[in-house]
Amino acid sequence: MTETRPDPLVIFTPSGKRGRFPVGTPILTAARQLGVDLDSVCGGRGICSKCQITPGVGDFPKHGVTVAADALSPWNAVEQRYKDIRGLIDGRRLGCQAKVAGDIVVDVPPESQVHRQVVRKAATARAIEMDPATRLYCVAVQEPDMHEPTGDLERLNRALAETFDLPPAQADLQVLARLQPALRKGDWTVTVALSTPREGGPSKIVEVWPGFHEGGLHGLAIDLGSTTIAAHLTDLADGRVLASSGLMNPQIRFGEDLMSRVSYAMMNPGGDAEMTRAVRAALNTLIGELATEAGIDARTIVEAVFVCNPVMHHLLLGIDPVELGQAPFALATSSALDLAAAALDLTAMNPGGQVYILPCIAGHVGADAAAVALSEEPDKSDDLVLIVDVGTNAEILLGNRSRVLACSSPTGPAFEGAQISSGQRAAPGAIERVEIDPETKEPRFRVIGCELWSDDPGFAEATAATGVTGICGSGIIEAVAEMRMAGLMDPSGLIGSGEQTGTPRSLPEGRTHAYLLHDGSATGGPVITVTQGDVRAIQLAKSALYAGARLLMDEIGVDAVDRVVLAGAFGAHISPKHAMVLGMIPDAPLDRVTSAGNAAGTGARIALCNRAARRRIEAGVRAITKVETAIEPRFQEHFVAANAIPHATAPFPNLAQAVSLPQVGFGAGAARGDAGGRRRRRG
Ligand code: FES
Repeated sequence: MTETRPDPLVIFTPSGKRGRFPVGTPILTAARQLGVDLDSVCGGRGICSKCQITPGVGDFPKHGVTVAADALSPWNAVEQRYKDIRGLIDGRRLGCQAKVAGDIVVDVPPESQVHRQVVRKAATARAIEMDPATRLYCVAVQEPDMHEPTGDLERLNRALAETFDLPPAQADLQVLARLQPALRKGDWTVTVALSTPREGGPSKIVEVWPGFHEGGLHGLAIDLGSTTIAAHLTDLADGRVLASSGLMNPQIRFGEDLMSRVSYAMMNPGGDAEMTRAVRAALNTLIGELATEAGIDARTIVEAVFVCNPVMHHLLLGIDPVELGQAPFALATSSALDLAAAALDLTAMNPGGQVYILPCIAGHVGADAAAVALSEEPDKSDDLVLIVDVGTNAEILLGNRSRVLACSSPTGPAFEGAQISSGQRAAPGAIERVEIDPETKEPRFRVIGCELWSDDPGFAEATAATGVTGICGSGIIEAVAEMRMAGLMDPSGLIGSGEQTGTPRSLPEGRTHAYLLHDGSATGGPVITVTQGDVRAIQLAKSALYAGARLLMDEIGVDAVDRVVLAGAFGAHISPKHAMVLGMIPDAPLDRVTSAGNAAGTGARIALCNRAARRRIEAGVRAITKVETAIEPRFQEHFVAANAIPHATAPFPNLAQAVSLPQVGFGAGAARGDAGGRRRRRG
């Protein structure tokens, strides 16, 4: 009786998956059978290089095997051709070409894993597992035959099934029109971008290229805000952000905040359609700019994920937002949406590409709040965490593992630098950091694009190209808070006169005063002041934010939170200390106030890169309790009390430990010249 030797053992690292395979089995086939995460776009024809592996040789006591030098089939011509043309790291093999010849240990490097992890760049680094809805597949399609009268699409689907085990996919007319020339030009090999928005659901071919397509696939994560639109162009293979850009939402000309845009739609027949056209045109401009900046073909942009508040959501979709302007604030739909880009006139990306819009939480709490929840995961927090996404409309979440509440609050555009006399969007030249010396009352500042402070040597030269052009959102928050800390402004928000504050920088302006931050007039630049009107705009915005947070705290029945996360387009730039001096947020230990950057944008990026995250937030929003600020009488009460800086009644004990606020008053009594204006008490 002859003893049959067992088939060679193939062990994959880092997964540890192992199995026995007959001699001659390609490593890619072994990986597939074991469920090892090894990528392949070309189906094993040696042209995509996605299947690269690193074979190990020698003793592997941990795995109980010794690998001989000839454990894999010899290096072949396909691999050599690939290496000559594109290069291949020494020691690497193509998994589709290397075949099992003996016991072998095979390492799958991260870039060859389909579901590779990408680490988010954020305060809380978390990995996103890559599993985008659209992927590339390169297949050889059987040529047509007089005796087998099937269509090209049917034979393409058969090839996809045979090579990648995929169910049949649909194709839109535009793709069908390109399929025949592509197949013939590619000598019966094509690469398709296949979109499967829901795991196990129907698939659609959104693009086809002749032969092997080298250009990869791209997606957009878009945070469509009332004031600004921010977009990240992302590589769908590895989640890298290739270009980021933003522009002002052109709907501003129809009204600065949400309710004025709803009113515009109500008062002007066709006004909603006008706003829809404006925002879609702006999106196409932005997408075109991003594609140019990244140097990619716009047809490779096959996915876009949107997060936005409910009014922006409806106007993007072409739905009249009138119902959102009145109780009970009914949404046309609160569900997540999968749409074709063409349905939204997004022609600057692949019009056959897919758009995903995150679900809305309620009529006033939109997909942007859902995106913040996806990014910051308050439902996984042991502490009671307050997350505020600061924008024209603030999204506020409060909760922990047991319960999460959400509301939105109409802060207006002041935090984004709009409605501020010297306000501008965050761009080079904008003042973003401010310090005011409490003794001399002299300011110093930093502008975006320059690391130096304005009193550092070389500042003028370093900012010569951009100039000092205005104040952005984080700059105005710091400026107003610093004015309070330096005793230039009293708790009611009143700016003192030069006489009261002892500095010539307090300039009279009508019946009020303004603080001179920068005078660039000698060199033709602007005079940048913080006016009484600016302070009032910031007070309104911060009171709305605080009142929303406070309402959620009432609902949970607490007077304090364990930690605060500041998010928003400029969330990363807001100084926790200044935000608390202003009373934007409730009192909390200062070291427990952190910035999360643009959490809504991050949520969009997570949903772009990972389909399971979409399902997670679709389920997650159903568990969030919505609190409606517009109809809650206590909101007004909280709003009024929050008008003072930092607050009329709340004690702010943590803030008092870190900062001493001078007790000054510049009201009517002080204006008559009594000593009250200069009263100061430290501590
Ligand atoms: Fe494409 Fe191996 S699978 S080169």
